[in-house]
Amino acid sequence: MRAVPAGTGNLLGMTEDLVVRAEGLRKRFGSTQALDGVDLSMRRGTVLGVLGPNGAGKTTAVRVLATLLRPDEGRAFVAGIDVLKNPRQVRRKIGLTGQYASVDEDLTGVQNLVLIGRLLDLSGRDARRRADELLEWFDLSEAARRPAKTYSGGMRRRLDLAASLVGQPEVIFLDEPTTGLDPAKREDMWGVVRTQVASGASVLLTTQYLEEADALADEIVVVNHGKVIAHDTPDGLKRKVGGQTLRVRPADPARLPDVLRLLDLVAAPGTAASLDEAAGSRPGAASVPVSSDEALDKLIPALRADRVEVTELALHLPSLDEVFHALTGRVRTEELV
Ligand SMILES: Nc1ncnc2c1ncn2[C@@H]1O[C@H](COP(=O)(O)OP(=O)(O)OP(=O)(O)O)[C@@H](O)[C@H]1O
Ligand SMILES: [Mg+2]
Repeated sequence: MRAVPAGTGNLLGMTEDLVVRAEGLRKRFGSTQALDGVDLSMRRGTVLGVLGPNGAGKTTAVRVLATLLRPDEGRAFVAGIDVLKNPRQVRRKIGLTGQYASVDEDLTGVQNLVLIGRLLDLSGRDARRRADELLEWFDLSEAARRPAKTYSGGMRRRLDLAASLVGQPEVIFLDEPTTGLDPAKREDMWGVVRTQVASGASVLLTTQYLEEADALADEIVVVNHGKVIAHDTPDGLKRKVGGQTLRVRPADPARLPDVLRLLDLVAAPGTAASLDEAAGSRPGAASVPVSSDEALDKLIPALRADRVEVTELALHLPSLDEVFHALTGRVRTEELV
């Protein structure tokens, strides 16, 4: 398993490999415990996806790591630097795209980026060169000379992303970077993230799009109610949470009761077969969670012995969507008990 829980770095001598490390972060706003003991770690040169329902504490955690907010308790290191003790040094290493646009509306696209470059001590010429390069990457060259207030929502979002990359940061924090982008622009953005990582950057991103986390993240942290409830690779989460699902579609729908009975014989402990009734699924099939591929070896002879003809027989990993709902739902159930 590739997940590296926070706090093991010292033991294993891998601290330098962890570009973000947070331990026991707590933050309260009035009666809301936004962070309730968050441990996080991100390996250098990778993408960490932070997932969680609205209000889970994702933005709060990003703001702490990006030195914009002091936690009530806990410690955090970014690029090996203490976020609380040396925030200015941390700021030199990071780029941040917040959840809400932060560009200056009255300046043009190119002016916004050049201004940031100058604030980061680039020469006028270097700032201009970097701005032009980023505007091209983000497909904004044509709009470069228009004030940002004339941009569409997606264009502003892309300008915001470009702004976070001006300083070629070592660690990039992206809080919902593709919210409001159309699917093509979203994929362009994924390309930009991959290019940054290929050139040595590390990226921590929050997203509401689970397919985005699946496509980009090397590891995923799931946050709920201010706590980390899972940290693993996308496939690791899928295996851990849902196990696998075996689905069977009989040629004759009248045999569904037999299929359900046979699937129950190979069900993972504590689970049972059910009809596929999820929205969008074609009726006439049944599924069951299974613990291993051996379920298939047992099921096939059983179907044959009962003369059940099938038109579909498949073993699936759950989608990240299912994992997310299983994890965040499970926490709610535990709290109710
Ligand atoms: N400045 C603040 N003042 C008061 N409450 C806050 C503040 N910032 C965040 N909160 C509360 O803390 C909790 C966590 O908020 P946060 O913005 O971190 O969630 P999030 O996971 O980013 O959610 P979303 O998916 O909606 O962006 C929420 O209940 C929010 O209302
Ligand atoms: Mg947020």
